[in-house]
Amino acid sequence: MKFKYGARLIGVGAGLPSAVVTNADLEKLVATSDEWIKTRTGISERRIASDTESTTGLAIEAAKDAIGFAGIDPDEIELVVVATSTPDNLYPSTACMVQAAIGAKRAAAFDLEAACTGIVYALAVAQQFLGSGTFKCALVVGVDIHSRFLNWEDRNTCILFGDGAGAFILKADENQNDLLGTYLRADGSGAHLLHIPNTGVGYPHAGQEPPKEVDRFLQMNGRAIYEFAVNAVPEAVRAACVEANLEVADVDFLVPHQANMRIIKSAAERLGMKPEQIVSNVNEMGNTSAASIPLAMWQAILRKQIKSPSTCALVGFGGGLTWGAAIVNWNAVDQRRPAIENN
Ligand code: UT7
Repeated sequence: MKFKYGARLIGVGAGLPSAVVTNADLEKLVATSDEWIKTRTGISERRIASDTESTTGLAIEAAKDAIGFAGIDPDEIELVVVATSTPDNLYPSTACMVQAAIGAKRAAAFDLEAACTGIVYALAVAQQFLGSGTFKCALVVGVDIHSRFLNWEDRNTCILFGDGAGAFILKADENQNDLLGTYLRADGSGAHLLHIPNTGVGYPHAGQEPPKEVDRFLQMNGRAIYEFAVNAVPEAVRAACVEANLEVADVDFLVPHQANMRIIKSAAERLGMKPEQIVSNVNEMGNTSAASIPLAMWQAILRKQIKSPSTCALVGFGGGLTWGAAIVNWNAVDQRRPAIENN
């Protein structure tokens, strides 16, 4: 192990908007069909935040759920990292709002932005702090509300995304390590392939007209992202396995970013993994960006697809472009439920 301390993964949690939007609902907005969306993406429905739901609120819900799972006192948490591309405000960070709401009084807190790969980046960052001995316990949240940046008249994009939050709790340990290997990459030359323009301070410039609403919506070259993803996912999993001193054949479950079932199946095939090793809830959640990997993991644990102990390859890709993977051991037990229920 290249770190002084291991990082145990001891909790997972979720925060979801209550409204479910089905493909049939979208048929009323754009020229699409339930059949097209299901066959091209695997998505049947997604959660969409209401006007009263916020990135901060969903993040807090996921954080509290993960804290309950881990059975820790929030005061133990010394680091809060929130991965999001859709914060409620430029500052304060979402992480600071979460830190206050959960009562992590001794914690440092900051946001991190790596689009849909954010949670993988956040896990790797948390490992640096825990592994060096700087902090003993970390909360890592992935949260996004992309629905506020979607053009609901653009069938190429509005059918794909959902909103939500997912969280992990990690604890430093002298004898055990669950974060076996990570791999992070970026290629800003592909920035234009997936972006939400005109949402920062760079625009409008002096003398320019303020942007129209439509200029601030998510824009994507779907084909190009598809081709990037089917290569990036296997590359990241293989490289993270090398870091973990494992073969891909040692991995029990693939927990990929939930963007499109066709991407997920193609990547699993390239990795030589069987359909039953795929963890996916894209049919129910759509693409929840930074939240998608923890949400998929959370649901698979709840539904007993992933049982303790299992080795999982968490792998993300998205805007930036960014991509990366983390090989993790899942050994945790939900402290709110009898141990027997966890197995
Ligand atoms: O976090 C990363 C986020 N993004 C992604 O992961 C996106 C990756 N890309 C994809 O998932 C796929 O490229 C899409 C699902 C976006 C599109 O699927 P595709 O098989 O690549 O379709 P396409 O873009 O090549 O479009 C095929 C046809 C086009 O019609 P024509 O030109 O063949 O007549 C589109 O206009 O499908 C049409 N189309 C639709 N039809 C019905 C595009 N969107 C829709 C729609 N309903 N919602």
